[in-house]
Amino acid sequence: MAERDRAVHRIPEILEDTRWTVCLVGEEQSGKLAQVTAGLRHRPDPDGAGKRITSGFSYWGLESTIAWAHACNDLYYPVMREGIASFSRRWQNTAGALPEGTLHYVSLGPGTGQKDQAILRQLRERGTSGSYIPVDISAEMLRLGQREALHNLRISPGDVLPVQLDFALPRNLDRLRTLIKSTVGDEPVLYSLLGNTLANFDSDTQLLTLLGNKLLRPQDRFLLEVASTAGQDDGAARAAAQEYENSPRFREFVTSALMQYTDLQIDMDCLSCEGSVEGERALRVKVIYRNRTDRTLVLTLPDRSTVPFPDQDTIRLLLTRKYTREGLDKMLVDAALLKVGETHDGGHAQFDRPAFGMALMLLQASAAPRPPVGPIPFD
Ligand SMILES: C[S@@+](CC[C@H](N)C(=O)[O-])C[C@H]1O[C@@H](n2cnc3c(N)ncnc32)[C@H](O)[C@@H]1O
Repeated sequence: MAERDRAVHRIPEILEDTRWTVCLVGEEQSGKLAQVTAGLRHRPDPDGAGKRITSGFSYWGLESTIAWAHACNDLYYPVMREGIASFSRRWQNTAGALPEGTLHYVSLGPGTGQKDQAILRQLRERGTSGSYIPVDISAEMLRLGQREALHNLRISPGDVLPVQLDFALPRNLDRLRTLIKSTVGDEPVLYSLLGNTLANFDSDTQLLTLLGNKLLRPQDRFLLEVASTAGQDDGAARAAAQEYENSPRFREFVTSALMQYTDLQIDMDCLSCEGSVEGERALRVKVIYRNRTDRTLVLTLPDRSTVPFPDQDTIRLLLTRKYTREGLDKMLVDAALLKVGETHDGGHAQFDRPAFGMALMLLQASAAPRPPVGPIPFD
């Protein structure tokens, strides 16, 4: 055996010492920096439709990872905290629709890893767990999430293969599919996209279609978790925005990318969450940083180039949504995905807003022809 092969074969043994983790890096990280920079060079726009931090980059890097972990524990950020706390129960109710036999688990964006822990524990209890492959744009998030996901579970280090990769790019999904195929062969895989991550993408339906087309084989399943709303009008949109505005830790998280990629002096009073109605399908919330200094600032970007940031110009820091039932059903049809199980915590209406909840859906590829997917703009 060649010297290099021997070193690779010894990795599982090295990993028995829990201070080491391994991570496959699936793409050139310098290219990612160019992508962030391009997002910050967009034309001026007072409504948050110009400069932006695209999804994924909000979480990329150590500062953002730590800020995200803090936000998930913030009492004032119920969307994530309650979603994590109630996940085990909702997953138990949904898991009945899983197929029998060994399942490998590929987690797209594991975040802090608590939900993966619930899934891996349940697969182990059934005696059907295979490999665990968490995939995230952020290496730091992978390390943090992996530690939590595997805590107190007896899973051999040789069965864990973290992958640093941006899953919103079609060519990356081709490479991921090849990697997964060479790891698990034809055995079934459970994929997950949890924590309303889908809602962060401008082209959410296109991303879901792409994931289904590129990854899902007939024997695989896809676990999708999204935020839901029972109604949609301007008042509901304002209430959805308010959920984010109230959390100091969430505000630190969304501005962490700005601190990393620009030399802007952050003023928290320049941050706003703006809700709107996205047709019949969803409430949409944009988190925006607005220049309120009455003068044009100059931003220095990671490649040392500069870009003017005029008064009242904006940088969109995050996009999220709460989907209506009709919006969700249509998105699944458009992506050629079929629901085989669901747990929907509908939440409770309050005097000033409709019920906001979480839907956890187990999906499989439908027999319909795979819909074509064009390039994904802005994501
Ligand atoms: C909203 S968090 C959800 C975390 C976790 N699934 C949960 O439900 O608590 C989104 C996660 O997806 C990752 N992510 C976002 N966009 C990504 C992309 N384009 N490629 C890979 N990972 C991405 C983030 O780093 C983060 O871990």
